[in-house]
Amino acid sequence: MPSSAVFHAVNCRRSYSRVTSFAPTREELLPLVAAAARVADHGALRPWRLLELRGAARERLGAAFVAASACVGDDALKLAGKPLRAPLLLAVIVSRRVSVKVADWEQDAVAAGVAHLLTLLLEDADWGAMWRTGPLVRSAAVRELHGLGDGEELLGWLYVGGVPADCKPGVRLSIDPEEFLGAL
Ligand SMILES: Cc1cc2nc3c(=O)[nH]c(=O)nc-3n(C[C@H](O)[C@H](O)[C@H](O)COP(=O)(O)O)c2cc1C
Repeated sequence: MPSSAVFHAVNCRRSYSRVTSFAPTREELLPLVAAAARVADHGALRPWRLLELRGAARERLGAAFVAASACVGDDALKLAGKPLRAPLLLAVIVSRRVSVKVADWEQDAVAAGVAHLLTLLLEDADWGAMWRTGPLVRSAAVRELHGLGDGEELLGWLYVGGVPADCKPGVRLSIDPEEFLGAL
């Protein structure tokens, strides 16, 4: 079994569905974003961007969820409260570049790779994060709130906050790698 810090970080990676109200500052985030940008990137197109949603921006996202849904009353209130589950949401956006060499799906893979690396880096910096989407992620109201342009899609949000002192252990079971590593 490898004993490197990278192996340990990846092997122990988990999501935190519940986080505290403390969040990394923009200054703390910047080096993590720069490191996540080292993900493999065909043609170095950098086909992604992130948006910070803090404070009232999360309430505007909740309002966009309600506007995009048929929910009313208590259901609407519940929906509006979903983005408030973490003090910081990082919207992950793929910004597909026009390219004859690099297909859209490859660019989507780069943006997703940035998000995965960022969750790992956040955990390494003792923050809790969870990637969430939901059925309204591609709705017009949510698109408009994020100011998405042509060729852009929202891949969801990293919900980020502090790790609660009473946080339960992660639930994901380990796999049998023999089942997943074949050979031709
Ligand atoms: C693109 C993407 C979208 C996701 N969206 C949701 C979501 O909307 N709701 C949810 O409960 N989990 C979602 N997940 C899964 C969680 O982020 C998490 O991986 C899962 O709860 C398992 O926990 P673990 O990462 O600790 O193993 C999503 C994961 C990815 C990669």
